Amino acid sequence: MADLPSMDFTAPDLEAIAGAAGHVCVFIPENGKFDRMARRVNRLTRGALQRLVESERFGKLKPGEAITLPYPSGMAADGLHVVRMERRTRGQVAREAGATLGAALGKSGALILSPGLKGAEDVLLGVLLRAYSFDRHKTGDDAASPGRLTVMTSDEELADRAGTLEALASGVRFTRDLVNEPSNVLTTTEFADRLAALSGLGLKVEVLEEPDLEKLGMRTLLSVGQGSESPSKVVVMQWSGGGDEAPVALVGKGVVFDTGGISLKPAAGMEEMTMDMGGAGVVAGVMQAVAMRKARANVVGLVGLVENMPDGKATRPGDVVRSMKGDTVEIINTDAEGRLVLCDVMWYAQERFKPTAMVDLATLTGAVIIALGHENAGVFSNDDALAKAFLDAAGAEGEGAWRLPLGEGYDKQLKSRIADMKNVGGRPAGSVTAAQFLARFVKEDVPWVHLDIAGVASRSDGTKLAPKGATGWGVLALNRMIADRFEVGG
Ligand code: BES
Ligand code: MN
Ligand code: ZN
Repeated sequence: MADLPSMDFTAPDLEAIAGAAGHVCVFIPENGKFDRMARRVNRLTRGALQRLVESERFGKLKPGEAITLPYPSGMAADGLHVVRMERRTRGQVAREAGATLGAALGKSGALILSPGLKGAEDVLLGVLLRAYSFDRHKTGDDAASPGRLTVMTSDEELADRAGTLEALASGVRFTRDLVNEPSNVLTTTEFADRLAALSGLGLKVEVLEEPDLEKLGMRTLLSVGQGSESPSKVVVMQWSGGGDEAPVALVGKGVVFDTGGISLKPAAGMEEMTMDMGGAGVVAGVMQAVAMRKARANVVGLVGLVENMPDGKATRPGDVVRSMKGDTVEIINTDAEGRLVLCDVMWYAQERFKPTAMVDLATLTGAVIIALGHENAGVFSNDDALAKAFLDAAGAEGEGAWRLPLGEGYDKQLKSRIADMKNVGGRPAGSVTAAQFLARFVKEDVPWVHLDIAGVASRSDGTKLAPKGATGWGVLALNRMIADRFEVGG
């Protein structure tokens, strides 16, 4: 996990271009017109930039795409990264343009020439998000140290706004590091320790241990972890930037490894269940981001950290357990464990914090991958306004999200002969019945969104903004939703 590349901002200095190490990045608009920095690069390279820009290949680039000229003569750089992009380009295209540079960013960093680029922040965020690698378990040369980014810009306020970018990128990286980490390293204890370290950013962090959870009556959560050597924990993170307002509560599923328990999963692909704490990972990333940018909002993040293992002490199919709310659950399948963790943490969040809104995140069902693939997370809600706020934020951040239904008919699938409910609803609409289970633990007046992120938390193919593995999906969307809907003052 290479660190976040650091950023420096300087006024345009044509003399510094020739000697810059690493990559030099220039932006060329559709009409091919050069600004003065591009003109200097063209002079230094004796017209190579001009020839590249006039080439058929460059003409075929889509906005935001780039061609890299390796070891350009006349310059000290390793590569000249030429991006086809209008000065006014913002948003996703600008982020993806930055990401092409981020992917190529080596140890020697880059010089970005962006005089008055309107989407400079998006470009830089794209660089920071894509210049990520999870290499802490690789020994030797593979473990790259991060390069420095120098941004030459006439926008004197860009440096001041860069702090927010660093907050967002750090949050996403924190999530990715947690999700990528193997389960022998990221035990429940290690996870809680990494969250406790967030107190350095001004967050209040509490770790509830098994005796505390027993006292609170969180029996469904404890029933999931009782087959593991790692103790179950609930971590509560509070950011208080919003005065007396009731907080937004974020609740995350943190199953550090999901074997399925006694209802054991098949061997093939089981190693992927190291990411089954993805919901908790996103909650952690959002808490880091809001703290680093000193959001004027009250946000509380709660994660249930457990490991689902088969063992002599493990929960059996057919066992009945009592939730903190008091409702009893017949555990038909010990592999439907995420909902058992969430229901207790959600109930606790509502009892203790009386939140103005609650969002839970979980790698909850394989069924959501069948429904939506890896492009969209499943969104479920009891409140159209909150659902829209989330979907708008996700759309603005380019994070795929698609609403799916809830309804009484689905809830019926959870009826149990001997307890208040079963923990599974059969094969039809598996993601909906999982959400329906959670809905039973949401108080009537609490606006709630449930995000099933099983398909989006980690991607073996990577995305434009993330290399293969953990994506950090949801950190930007939730941060934006908080900024747009829940911040006080202005
Ligand atoms: N953690 C899994 C869901 C999952 C599957 C996440 C694939 C990421 C990728 C969850 O705990 C689970 O096992 N769900 C079961 C529920 C079933 C037993 C009702 C599933 O989806 O098969
Ligand atoms: Mn499971
Ligand atoms: Zn699971």
